[in-house]
Amino acid sequence: MLSSFSPLTLLQPARIHFGPGCATPAVTALARHGHRRVFLLTSPSVRAHAEFLAATLRAENVTVEIATGVPPEPTTACCEILRAAARTFAPDLILAVGGGSVLDIAKLLAALHDRPEPVASFYGVGLLTGRRTALACVPTTAGTGSEVSPNALLFDEASVAKKAAISPALVPDTAIIDPQLMLSLPPALTATTGIDALTHCLEAYANKAAHPIVDLYALNGVRLIAAHLPRAVRDGHDLEARSAVALGSLYGGLCLGPVNTAAVHALAYPLGGEFHLAHGLSIALMLPHVVRYNLPAAPARYADLARALGVTGTGTDSALATQGADRLAALCAECGIRPGLAHQGIPADAIARLAAEGMKVTRLLKNNPRELTLADAETIFRQAF
Ligand SMILES: [Fe+2]
Repeated sequence: MLSSFSPLTLLQPARIHFGPGCATPAVTALARHGHRRVFLLTSPSVRAHAEFLAATLRAENVTVEIATGVPPEPTTACCEILRAAARTFAPDLILAVGGGSVLDIAKLLAALHDRPEPVASFYGVGLLTGRRTALACVPTTAGTGSEVSPNALLFDEASVAKKAAISPALVPDTAIIDPQLMLSLPPALTATTGIDALTHCLEAYANKAAHPIVDLYALNGVRLIAAHLPRAVRDGHDLEARSAVALGSLYGGLCLGPVNTAAVHALAYPLGGEFHLAHGLSIALMLPHVVRYNLPAAPARYADLARALGVTGTGTDSALATQGADRLAALCAECGIRPGLAHQGIPADAIARLAAEGMKVTRLLKNNPRELTLADAETIFRQAF
């Protein structure tokens, strides 16, 4: 499998601020660009950061309403409640400060608070056209990459599944990635969100739609995260490690729009859907198993990834690729992620259901380097137990 020079459209925020300490001046710049009514969506765990940034805005005479109430795996209903609050406030800017769930909901609020249609009617690709309210995202995890991507995912109660709204209108206008806001992220969340970010890069590189432009982000993202994530997990205040992982996460986000992910994500989603496992943890538990399944279809690409993961050696592509899969499992273990779905309380009799649900995520499975049947998915889930 090779990247080809096929047509590709890159969509990115008009402004990407990156680096320790960038959040305060970047938020001040938002006020000076003329925004006067800011609906700030956040979550209780990072409320202190949100309050600080709200104070920065208020010092510029901006009216700010802070809303919390985004659960870890938010639902369509939760999004509708927050949308009603945003509609009442009538903001000219939606500002998100939080993890991927907060960012995803904020993106939908910005696009939909002034429209009558239900959120659920926009699940799909390209159904949501246009957005009238400005949107700025400040991630406090590294992360989902949602701050630069056109994707917003919710758990939809009606279909009992993760649903995605994907549209250029959901690419934020401003992304503010300040690793200082990530220093207090607990080790377990640092580990799982970091592996998720690495997986965005890995799945973009070993992907049927892989592209030379995106390959640059993907390989460098894998390198940065693999080399620094264990350090960031061990010492959350290691700003250099936090910054490297945050940059890798940004690269992962930039992979999501033009190429997107594949079977690791497709098979991980049902774990969130039925068992409410956090997204990053679901990804980490499935990652080595899906990669091992995929290796024979793209040994050269997985050998490149193995080198980016830190594998050294001069063996064949297949041998290196296999070592890369082993390295992924070792990296997860080094970051304190206990392998095995059974340890998460998932019963073995769920395998058939999980596999069947995963096979429905065709928008991602079509990207996977190796074809996957229902029987293959069941085998992968059995190996992941
Ligand atoms: Fe992800």
